[in-house]
Amino acid sequence: MLDNAPKLPPEIARRRTFAIISHPDAGKTTLTEKFLLFGGAIQMAGQVRAKGEARRTRSDFMKLEQERGISVSASAMSFDFRHYRFNLVDTPGHSDFSEDTYRTLTAVDAAIMVIDGAKGVESQTRKLFEVCRLRDLPILTFCNKMDRESRDTFEIIDEIQQNLAIDVTPASWPIGVGRDFIGAYDLLHDRLEIMDRADRNKVAESIAIKGLDDPALALHVPADLLAKFHEEIEMVRELLPPFDRKSFLEGHLTPIWFGSAINSFGVKELMDGMGEYGPEPQPQKAAERHISAEETPVTGFVFKVQANMDPKHRDRVAFVRLASGHFQRGMKLMHVRSKKPMTVTNPVMFLAADRELTEEAWAGDIIGIPNHGQLRIGDGLTEGETLRFTGIPSFAPELLSTVRALDPMKAKHLEKALTQFAEEGAAKVFKPMIGSGYVVGVVGQLQFEVLASRIEEEYSLPVRFEPSQFTSARWVMGAKEAVEAFVNVNKGHIAHDSDGDLVYLTRLRWDIDRVERDHPEVKLTATKEMM
Ligand code: G4P
Repeated sequence: MLDNAPKLPPEIARRRTFAIISHPDAGKTTLTEKFLLFGGAIQMAGQVRAKGEARRTRSDFMKLEQERGISVSASAMSFDFRHYRFNLVDTPGHSDFSEDTYRTLTAVDAAIMVIDGAKGVESQTRKLFEVCRLRDLPILTFCNKMDRESRDTFEIIDEIQQNLAIDVTPASWPIGVGRDFIGAYDLLHDRLEIMDRADRNKVAESIAIKGLDDPALALHVPADLLAKFHEEIEMVRELLPPFDRKSFLEGHLTPIWFGSAINSFGVKELMDGMGEYGPEPQPQKAAERHISAEETPVTGFVFKVQANMDPKHRDRVAFVRLASGHFQRGMKLMHVRSKKPMTVTNPVMFLAADRELTEEAWAGDIIGIPNHGQLRIGDGLTEGETLRFTGIPSFAPELLSTVRALDPMKAKHLEKALTQFAEEGAAKVFKPMIGSGYVVGVVGQLQFEVLASRIEEEYSLPVRFEPSQFTSARWVMGAKEAVEAFVNVNKGHIAHDSDGDLVYLTRLRWDIDRVERDHPEVKLTATKEMM
């Protein structure tokens, strides 16, 4: 990552693979849209439902809606910006913190944290930030909605420092607040950026300035705002650390840009920041060793599986983060879990609205591999080496239900649907040793509703989720004999998960304490590595 790291081949070195994290409503979608616009991946972006734009034709609106909809539903989007290749991996938007989000963050090398300038650090931001911190991901911060009344700049920075325990350094500094906001000073490049409120898709006017004492500033900034700006910059110098790339790459320092996504303001500067300072594709961890991006053999791991992404293609797509090498279409790779060869003939990359066959990809890229269920989350693909990628966890669900097909003749379909969702990672599915039926586990109540409607839609199978006698689940680990002895006396609590691993289902809160006391040689765990 740092200067003494070996030089990567240029095609790999230009890649930046990252996610955007935020609390709902902070502006992630809008920012994503502007990224795609400036990356040339879409032609138009903007406020779909904006007033005053009624002159647009209906088809324009529909196209925009479609672009907006698709751009957010695609899981990984690739586009070029200047000489960089950006891979933007989408984190799910719903507010239930989910495993899916966690896994997505295992596939990226950096994150952009979007906060609302009026609201500061919100609950979901904090949770996602903590996940980034577990992986020491470098974080760039974008303070959005500066065109509206926002909090005092120092207050925002202070809140991030206090709340998230990370140092903050301003990459830009806002001039004026709310209606008086005129733009920002780019502290890293000594440029004055003036916002154009009239045209939301226009990039700000950029004026090169010879340092903060340049009299040219007064030509563009009203005297009162300029005086305040100088005062604040004095304080910045005294109170805040300067930008330090090493500290940023290690996840100790976040540069913050102030902007307004909807007005396209500050967005290009943020993209420049990601390009110039963001990390190159980073080494990935496997149980056997670390894999560096510049290694010649192709390796990669599945971090997400999505079914029915496109009604025209009724298949599943496994999203693979390439850890090393230069992938070419038609390559034969080894599927590590089954040790079987797999010829990847139709890999896809996602260029905003379209999924397109891709002829090649490099370490750092995300490719989608359509398949019929062979590829599962955590699976590794290599050119022959046995590598078990680590760090992709599975969490014990917090809510359990039983599920029943309303038409009992269709039990087989239900089994198929549940297997699919388990493989997608959308739910945990447990098959108890005793009795028939399944126990389904999720993190948030809403997921049961989503599952029910998907089963009905995708399998024409109405189902009902009902309360389970079980309340939580733990994976069972330990020496073979100990585990067998334990299972023998606890059959009523034992189930298998969709990988065939043993699970202990609890009824009462103290069940786990009891097991720990009576079977000290057996370990019950709330997480499992997928590999
Ligand atoms: P999210 O994906 O993080 O949930 O946020 P999203 O981009 O959907 O933005 C949430 C709302 O904030 C949207 O308004 C959006 O237009 C608005 N917004 C985004 N960036 C800015 C900004 O820089 N300044 C201001 N003032 N507003 C911004 P909405 O009313 O919910 O939707 P819409 O009708 O505008 O589409």
